[in-house]
Amino acid sequence: MLGGKSVLITGAGTGIGAAAARVFCREGAAVTLVARREKELAGLTAELTGAGHRAQYVLADVRQRADVARAVAAATEAFGGLDAAFNNAGLAAMPGPMHLVDDETYDSVMDTNVRGVWHCLQYEIAAMLEGGGGAIVNNSSTAGLVATVAGSPYIAAKHAVIGLTKAAANEYGSRGIRVNAIATGATRTGMLGEYLDQDPGREPAMAGKAMVGRLAAPHEIAEAAAWLCSDRSSYITGATVPVDGGRTAR
Ligand SMILES: NC(=O)c1ccc[n+]([C@@H]2O[C@H](COP(=O)([O-])OP(=O)(O)OC[C@H]3O[C@@H](n4cnc5c(N)ncnc54)[C@H](O)[C@@H]3O)[C@@H](O)[C@H]2O)c1
Repeated sequence: MLGGKSVLITGAGTGIGAAAARVFCREGAAVTLVARREKELAGLTAELTGAGHRAQYVLADVRQRADVARAVAAATEAFGGLDAAFNNAGLAAMPGPMHLVDDETYDSVMDTNVRGVWHCLQYEIAAMLEGGGGAIVNNSSTAGLVATVAGSPYIAAKHAVIGLTKAAANEYGSRGIRVNAIATGATRTGMLGEYLDQDPGREPAMAGKAMVGRLAAPHEIAEAAAWLCSDRSSYITGATVPVDGGRTAR
């Protein structure tokens, strides 16, 4: 499905990003894995290259423009261009009632989830224009579609990711670049685990909101991202695909 494609994945060291690295490689992609922590990235890259896949990692903070520029350049240099990207790096915060949220929390959630995707889109689009097209998938959330238990800055940020997705799809569709978002539902990763582990009632309550009655596994989100990055979804752009076990259809 992704044979011969050069794909960049952000937030690739853990959770959904790490699952995506494995799924994208299984589908034949050469992957550039981007995140801030070397231990996880180096281990995952060794696992993938050891299994015969093409993978490299770049330590980068998506909040920093120069870091993102360096990561995209590394992908194009190592693998002959950039065909697809999964902008997955994100930060959750459940800071409580809106009127008590401080500016520091608001800024940090916006910086990673919105500015980070903004930086990625800018450099990825520039690289894809050079190469004649591509596909980008932004990891939003059900919190990008509806208000959930997630805090207000996160809800606002994930709505903004969907706005950026539509804007980019609109501007670059005629130049061969498709841009979509995933409205990711509750998924058992480190990000959510911390919240769930604070109270044993939380997981069943959250699982019960999905029509399928359970949380997602990280690879289930990754499979959708791989499909949206592939030519098999060639007529889909500007869309937000819920991968949420039916959560937002209720
Ligand atoms: N887990 C869920 O229930 C859920 C639900 C909806 C959406 N999401 C979204 O899925 C994405 C992946 O989250 P996850 O659940 O795998 O959690 P996670 O914490 O395992 O993954 C997030 C990754 O992003 C990286 N990251 C954070 N800030 C970064 C920065 N500034 N620069 C580079 N990398 C950075 C982290 O190091 C981490 O590897 C996030 O965008 C999150 O908002 C998750």
